[in-house]
Amino acid sequence: MSSLLLTLRESVRYRGRGGHYSWIAHRLAGLGILAFLVIHVWETAMVNYNPPVYEYAIAVFKHPLFGLGEIGLMGAVLFHAFNGIRITLLDFKPEWWRHQAKTVTIVWALFLVVFVPIAIYMLSSIISHCGHGSNCWAFPTYPVS
Ligand code: HEM
Ligand code: HEM
Repeated sequence: MSSLLLTLRESVRYRGRGGHYSWIAHRLAGLGILAFLVIHVWETAMVNYNPPVYEYAIAVFKHPLFGLGEIGLMGAVLFHAFNGIRITLLDFKPEWWRHQAKTVTIVWALFLVVFVPIAIYMLSSIISHCGHGSNCWAFPTYPVS
């Protein structure tokens, strides 16, 4: 636990600028996607092993809080993919490390250009889902009737 705290504290304290912040974002995104994937594969498997649990999981995912989580997941996947391609390219072409600050800026710019419109679209879907008089904030009860 103390080594985890040390890692977290030093990650924030160390002034590595662009590349360092990209590394933190890449790791958080990778671990976030991994956490989602574990739940996702388990919940998908329930369609076979325990259908009422699967139906309940789908109902829970329609809750606006999970909708916001999906926007975060979309951001994590996009950033991790773009930055992962940057890291892979630099691994193959070490001479490009001279331009590493510029590559970091390009990845963040590309990420924002792609992510912001998608996030606005996803957010508007959540808002319109909640706008038809449905009580979208109510948490579903098990089993789904
Ligand atoms: C919120 C976004 C997502 C939705 C709505 C979604 C939906 C689904 C659905 C409906 C299936 C079942 C497909 C079938 O059986 O024909 C599935 C399977 C799967 N998805 Fe996703 N998915 C999402 C995001 C992701 C992400 C980000 C990953 C990878 C990181 C992923 C990895 C997988 C895998 C590996 C399976 C196969 C699981 C299995 O067969 O047990 N999904 N997904
Ligand atoms: C678009 C596809 C992906 C690409 C191009 C990609 C690329 C990469 C690269 C190049 C690294 C090494 C980073 C480094 O050397 O510092 C990495 C790390 C990692 N990736 Fe991915 N990845 C992808 C998808 C995924 C998915 C789907 C997951 C989760 C299931 C994932 C989880 C991780 C984790 C946990 C790390 C370790 C991060 C760290 O130690 O800081 N990645 N990825």
